[in-house]
Amino acid sequence: MAGIPLISMRNIVKRFPGVTANDQINLDLHSGQIHALLGENGSGKTTLMSILTGLYRPTEGFISVCGEEKKFASPRDAIDSGIGMVHQHFKLIESFTVAENIALSQSSNSFLLSQEEVVEDIEKLGEKYGMSVNPRSYVWQLSVGEKQRVEILRMLYRNSKVLILDEPTAVLTPQETKELFLNLRKMANDGCAVVFISHKLNEVLELADKITVLRAGKVAGCFDRNDTNRYGLIEMMIGRKISVAQSGTKGEALGETVLEIDDISALNDVGTLGLNGLSLKVRAGEIYGIAGVSGNGQRELAEVLAGLRPVKSGNIKFYGEEITGMSPKNMIERGISYVPEDRLGMGLVPSLNSCENVILKEYDKPKYSQGWWIKEQAAVAATKAIVEKFDVRMGSIFQPVKMMSGGNLQKLLLGREIASKPKLMIVLYPVRGLDIGAIESVHKLLLQLKEANTAIILVSEELEEIAELSDRVGVIFSGKILGEFLIKDLDMERVGSLMAGVVEDKGESV
Ligand SMILES: Nc1ncnc2c1ncn2[C@@H]1O[C@H](COP(=O)(O)OP(=O)(O)OP(=O)(O)O)[C@@H](O)[C@H]1O
Ligand SMILES: [Mg+2]
Repeated sequence: MAGIPLISMRNIVKRFPGVTANDQINLDLHSGQIHALLGENGSGKTTLMSILTGLYRPTEGFISVCGEEKKFASPRDAIDSGIGMVHQHFKLIESFTVAENIALSQSSNSFLLSQEEVVEDIEKLGEKYGMSVNPRSYVWQLSVGEKQRVEILRMLYRNSKVLILDEPTAVLTPQETKELFLNLRKMANDGCAVVFISHKLNEVLELADKITVLRAGKVAGCFDRNDTNRYGLIEMMIGRKISVAQSGTKGEALGETVLEIDDISALNDVGTLGLNGLSLKVRAGEIYGIAGVSGNGQRELAEVLAGLRPVKSGNIKFYGEEITGMSPKNMIERGISYVPEDRLGMGLVPSLNSCENVILKEYDKPKYSQGWWIKEQAAVAATKAIVEKFDVRMGSIFQPVKMMSGGNLQKLLLGREIASKPKLMIVLYPVRGLDIGAIESVHKLLLQLKEANTAIILVSEELEEIAELSDRVGVIFSGKILGEFLIKDLDMERVGSLMAGVVEDKGESV
């Protein structure tokens, strides 16, 4: 493509203690183009974009905007240069309205703008790009997809010309993803340069004009969309070919019943019924896949099983023993493990290091303690074993885990749980945000757990993943299992309609 790039990053180096996150990176972004950034977990994508948005200063290298060199001392400078980013963890104030959130981000004169003007502008922008959201709604009232729209509208409202989205589809339904792609294309057509970070190759190939692959902090390759394909990209990302995890005993798992949930209901965080008459059974050595649009009771189900959420009615049996309403400690002692979706909120403690996080749930067991003393060597050895087995990459096991990349956090958390040899494991969206190599290892590990006779409840929004791993599939909608399939009878079309709450072919909604 001719012309001066809108953005040119040259020889960017970013060093953190113990890691070179970006190593001599060059990247050009052109107006009118969608540029995808691909790379394994920890390859440096977020770091590079944090440099472009003024969040970090590069150790070396420089950035120019329309051919003119710029030094960003703060995010404000980058915003003033027309660069905006939607982070994976949204940065909105829940108790403010959409309009207030958007006006807030306007520089000094924000209080001069009348709320009405802002509301009108947002409505216009929303209409133009087909991203409607009520400017007067409070952010806490919005779905995840709507919050993302607000973040995008905020960038547009600030007149950003460079729009960066860090794994935007990880939290969206397939329908929302489709809409997002249409909108991003419109923005590119209007002259924006769009950066799209994703681990999903299908999406990258569908959306991108240009693709840059990072590996271990360096640019491994940069292609026009039409000059590359799925396999080329995979090999470039991980530097080798991958194999697919295969379950040997799929659908034949006939161990004894481990978990029996009978007609339970429980409240969600807003006080309505998050679980509403849910029943299911899982056997030893079985993977029970739960398909569904997130927000239909998945998290509540997991929390009930982890002892973190009270049950209103119904009961739960574990190896025949009634465990309804037991404490988290009791659940853990029985061998029930919960791998939450919110890794830094619930699973790991951000300010503690890997080693401390690994022993977190068992620090008072003889394995790791003697009287008041923590057996440090045992803890370090256990951590090293997990790090090695799960290929967790980080500067050092003594660094706070908040410094690790998203994918590596997930591997550490899963590794810890699997190492505890659970009898029942409930895992939520285990590969969200993971790269292909890591997905492959997580799937293999889940299958190994299954071979070791663990009963597994796998909650995912990726139907392919569920179909690949599960022995049985239940579709969750509005707090109950609306339909169940043996894997050999899995009918994707019916799963799709059940996910939307449509039972059978009468087209009725529940
Ligand atoms: N603030 C920080 N302090 C120390 N190290 C960091 C910091 N931020 C990132 N790193 C390290 O830099 C490397 C690159 O991380 P980065 O978050 O950019 O990866 P990523 O490509 O976005 O990965 P993912 O796909 O998992 O999100 C990792 O090794 C990470 O541990
Ligand atoms: Mg990242």
